[in-house]
Amino acid sequence: MARVVVTGGAGFIGSHLVDELVRAGEEVLVLDNLRRGRWQNLAHQTRVQRVTGDIRDIGLLRPLLAGVDTVYHLAAQSNVLGALEDPDYSFTTNVAGTVNVFRAALEARVGRVVFSSSREVYGDVDVVPVDEATPLRPKNLYGASKAAGEMYACVYRAQGLDIRVLRLANVYGPRDTDRVIPRFIARALRGEPMTIYGGTQVLDFIWVGHVVRALVRAAHLPVLTEPVNVGSGQGTTVYDLAERIQREVSPDAPVELLPPRTFEVSRFVADVRRGRELLDLPAIADPLDHLGEVVAWLRGGGDGA
Ligand SMILES: NC(=O)c1ccc[n+]([C@@H]2O[C@H](COP(=O)([O-])OP(=O)(O)OC[C@H]3O[C@@H](n4cnc5c(N)ncnc54)[C@H](O)[C@@H]3O)[C@@H](O)[C@H]2O)c1
Repeated sequence: MARVVVTGGAGFIGSHLVDELVRAGEEVLVLDNLRRGRWQNLAHQTRVQRVTGDIRDIGLLRPLLAGVDTVYHLAAQSNVLGALEDPDYSFTTNVAGTVNVFRAALEARVGRVVFSSSREVYGDVDVVPVDEATPLRPKNLYGASKAAGEMYACVYRAQGLDIRVLRLANVYGPRDTDRVIPRFIARALRGEPMTIYGGTQVLDFIWVGHVVRALVRAAHLPVLTEPVNVGSGQGTTVYDLAERIQREVSPDAPVELLPPRTFEVSRFVADVRRGRELLDLPAIADPLDHLGEVVAWLRGGGDGA
């Protein structure tokens, strides 16, 4: 049984990852400051050790990482708008906090760290699909903070820490809050308009189950030194998404059209060849084929506000 730490494990992706790690028999400790996460997401887990604390506190991290095989580092100010609203928090958590995790992991001789970076590191691109060799030109503070995390990963890797970097596209699933899919569905269910900014923005949506599998596989590979995109490889416009939600929830669900927001990347589709080869990402014909599970979760009382 391996000892595993998940930072940000009370959040959306982290809590699904914890479910999978427990199922696989790992001994799991979750560190989360509950900024966006909730212990409620792990209420069904009885064997998971929970620490309410902050990755910005290196004194807390040091003892927690002693004797640990794998750290899945997911704790972050995890979205574009949040970083815009609170740049200090985004910087101190995503940059300084990430450096703390790497420092403490190196000192504790942790076996490997899996770092959840983002497709936002690429910024606006000339061509899609976007492969991992594309230069990093983040367009917003969130993307810059993730790119900074990747730069520090290079430095700590050179010092001997095994860090594996996954660049996640737009992940969706139950327990997600305050992102386009749960927000649109929640609004559609309440009969309120889905607010579309521009509408032609192209996003690459990927089901959280595929992402969890990619994270675990990244940890288990003997070596992984190059970053890997984790997406579906398919582009979906926000219009398409709203239409699809109308089909799932109600054809009468209203839509409100507003001008595009300048801080958002206008299109992203991941080149997923490396992910298929190394992380066993499945070929995905319909990236939104799990939308019904988010609808069911929200209908059952989930809060995606
Ligand atoms: N969801 C996506 O579409 C997506 C896309 C690309 C990358 N990512 C990255 O994946 C990771 C997980 O994202 P998520 O969607 O589950 O977001 P989330 O906000 O649900 O999870 C992040 C967790 O980190 C915790 N956290 C925040 N600041 C912390 C701090 N200073 N110390 C300790 N814990 C802290 C939060 O409370 C939360 O539980 C993040 O690193 C995010 O940037 C997510």
